Amino acid sequence: MSSWNDLAVRGAFPALSLSDKGLARLYADAPGGTQVCERAIVRTRQAMVDHCANEGGPFCTSVATDQWLLRVHEAAGEFFNADADEVVFGLNTTTLVFHFSRMIARNWRAGDNILVTRMDHDANVGPWILAAEERGVTVRFLDFDPETFLYRYDQLDQLIDARTRLVACNHASNFTGTINDVRRIVAAGKAVGAVTVVDVVQSAPHMALDARAIGSDILASSPYKYFGPHAGLMYLRRDFADSLVPPLKVRPAPMTMPHRHAPGTPSFEAQLGTYGAFEHLAWLGEQFGGASPAASLRARMSAGLAAATVHETALSVRFLNGVRAMPHVTLYGIADPAAVAGRVPTFSFSVRGQAPEAVAQRFAEHNQFIWYGNFYAMEAALRVGRPEGVARLGLAHYNTLAEVDALLEVLGGLR
Ligand SMILES: Cc1ncc(COP(=O)(O)O)c(C=O)c1O
Repeated sequence: MSSWNDLAVRGAFPALSLSDKGLARLYADAPGGTQVCERAIVRTRQAMVDHCANEGGPFCTSVATDQWLLRVHEAAGEFFNADADEVVFGLNTTTLVFHFSRMIARNWRAGDNILVTRMDHDANVGPWILAAEERGVTVRFLDFDPETFLYRYDQLDQLIDARTRLVACNHASNFTGTINDVRRIVAAGKAVGAVTVVDVVQSAPHMALDARAIGSDILASSPYKYFGPHAGLMYLRRDFADSLVPPLKVRPAPMTMPHRHAPGTPSFEAQLGTYGAFEHLAWLGEQFGGASPAASLRARMSAGLAAATVHETALSVRFLNGVRAMPHVTLYGIADPAAVAGRVPTFSFSVRGQAPEAVAQRFAEHNQFIWYGNFYAMEAALRVGRPEGVARLGLAHYNTLAEVDALLEVLGGLR
């Protein structure tokens, strides 16, 4: 096993070597979408050149598509610690949640209630509110403490009761960066027979996911947040998927998975591209995580993500220590460098006297890419008292300590 090597890791991402007007790009926009690894690009091309054909035909390109789809779904199963028939691809997380909300809400009755959160991206809030309005169902919110950025787990008992039909929450926040105790929230929902949906969009780039351990009916992710193409990828527990009767499918489509819950022709290129992202994580595991090339794909991906976490922890500590010395900056998330294990490297902040857009613009002048706004986590922005939004800088394993220093230099200069 070699020790972490920034050069080798960055070499696996073609976009990282690009510059504009002589200025190197500094990508600190990962929570909005990461850069795409070379392996994902190679696999995407394969799907579009080597075997560009629809499924189910007798000719070689279609046969290859069928074989690859099986392989991709097996790999996606390993990504979630699930089986190949427990995953579905879609356009993105939002579309997938809307799609499943229609089936899940069918049995809701007036007088029922659902629980969503004030920290989640609206992809796992808005679709449920709309469904609740249609069915005359009450919407309850799990709050978080705007000082600690942790959920009010103590309120779960009051919020969840025998009429709770759905519990929807997020694993890691795209706003505060908090990693939430989703096992606890899911267990509370499961105790009353509620359907549970966990948004793992922001945890997926940083840690191995374990659907069996989390125990949720659904985990929703987006491969473009973890070094792959624009797509959505969802885990659906088998018995839960089977309970969605009738599925929203057209009549000639097979009842087998994934077709039953993935209507229409999918983006084969996005599916293979996602496979390439898994290969990248596995490569990280072999290179820097001590995984044997003979180990399972899941073991290699998990080792890769664990190695990435060690590197990202160093980045987070450096950033948080830097910000500590900047009284003009207010962070909206866990700020203690000793507590970084409780967060992902996504940092929302405001700069005294400056609009979030102006802050992002100042970074852009240095070719440093950061976001501003509420990132569709609109409840979270309101809860921390920033309805106008914040600036957000998000790191991934391809970022370096030197880049963190460069970001801190610009931030320090904004006083
Ligand atoms: C936590 C979280 N959930 C859901 C989404 C929506 O994902 P998609 O764009 O794939 O619909 C995002 C996108 O930023 C997100 O950060």
